[in-house]
Amino acid sequence: MIIKPRGTSDILPKDSPVWQKIEETARDTARIYGYGEIRFPTFESTELFARGVGDTTDVVQKEMYTFSDKDGRSMTLRPEGTACVVRSVIENGLAGEAMPLKLYYFTSCFRYEKPAAGRYREFYQFGTELFGAETPASDAQVISLADTLLNRLGIRSDLKINSIGCKACRPKYREALISYFKQYEDRLCDTCKGRLQTNPMRILDCKSPICKEIAANAPKVTDYLCPDCASHLEATKALLDGMGIKYEVDPGIVRGLDYYTKTVFEFIAPIDRDSKTDEIKRLTICAGGRYDGLVEEIGGPRLPGIGFAAGMDRLVAAMKFSGREVPASEAPAVYIAPLGQRASAAAQKLIYDLRQKGVYAECDIVGRSLKSQMKYADKTGAEYTVIIGDNEIDTGSAILKNMKTSEQCEIKLDNLYEVITKR
Ligand code: HAM
Repeated sequence: MIIKPRGTSDILPKDSPVWQKIEETARDTARIYGYGEIRFPTFESTELFARGVGDTTDVVQKEMYTFSDKDGRSMTLRPEGTACVVRSVIENGLAGEAMPLKLYYFTSCFRYEKPAAGRYREFYQFGTELFGAETPASDAQVISLADTLLNRLGIRSDLKINSIGCKACRPKYREALISYFKQYEDRLCDTCKGRLQTNPMRILDCKSPICKEIAANAPKVTDYLCPDCASHLEATKALLDGMGIKYEVDPGIVRGLDYYTKTVFEFIAPIDRDSKTDEIKRLTICAGGRYDGLVEEIGGPRLPGIGFAAGMDRLVAAMKFSGREVPASEAPAVYIAPLGQRASAAAQKLIYDLRQKGVYAECDIVGRSLKSQMKYADKTGAEYTVIIGDNEIDTGSAILKNMKTSEQCEIKLDNLYEVITKR
């Protein structure tokens, strides 16, 4: 048997309604915030992510699916969407349009991570990016978009925010980190030993347990913010307070991608309960932040940006875990059970006409006996059934049965649409 690659998922019809509900709600939330949809390629040149996401990040150093195409160019399956959106904004001249520019996307992402509950090698994101506004108001709006989406999905989560500073305050913080981590250089993992000089902030989100333990007491970025970044954070907090959005400032939120500046945030929610320990597993379901230097880094004009991405797989898990009723597959409005060949053709025509009008209707195409047709109709959850044979075709009338109440009534087949949609 050929099986799917590790860390990938099949989303089956029984689970699709939850995905569709999340997609519909996300699309509608993007609509009410004035975002337009953008779609971009599944693979991009590797350089885009090396420059955009940062070549000292775990994502670029360890997790990318990179390959040479037949012309020897280095390509990478997108590990995230922001760099792709920025590339597209520059390439398509959107940076010259009226600002703010607000874009959303659904995308699959590929990261070679160790698979676990809620962590996959192919996963899905709903993402939003806002360009051309540098104000705390834009931060508050983006955070409120994520908050609105989660509320509309009935997912309870905790919001953590932080500021990771800007070009002006980073150098001092960098020095403080280097002198702190230097004391523990021997114990750091090999990747972090290298990061000590190239990008010490990345040590803060290293997944190695020893690096994590050392990083726990590292200097906090919030103690090194310049006056501009500090007041930006305060103003953003005040706007969130004004909207009644609860949050906690957590200096430990540094994010794993290099492009962030100033505000960063994560929404964390319970997604699962460990069957052995009964412990509740909590994961970041939605995360993002400001990236004021990224457009320039990728070769565009100076254009500030801020956005987030919600992990769809994790939203599905969080929605199921929340206990809120998740939508089920749709049941047919009517199941038509034909008896004999002539009736079978008539049933096809009846459901064809209903489907033209947007009604979900079914009839037998397997060749079942009447008894097993009725059993099957019941299994599908069909609201009504109609049995038709030669007599029904000749008279143009049949018995319509309500499968829930078992009530029966005679109807004209020509009126089937009106009868089943009127009730
Ligand atoms: P990220 O934190 O790497 O940020 O991913 C965003 C979300 O994608 C995570 O919070 C999580 O819900 C989901 N996610 C990440 N990795 C996995 C995985 N291996 N399996 C399942 N779900 C996962 C970004 O990707 C940024 N581009 C977000 C952003 C947009 N920042 C600004 N704009």
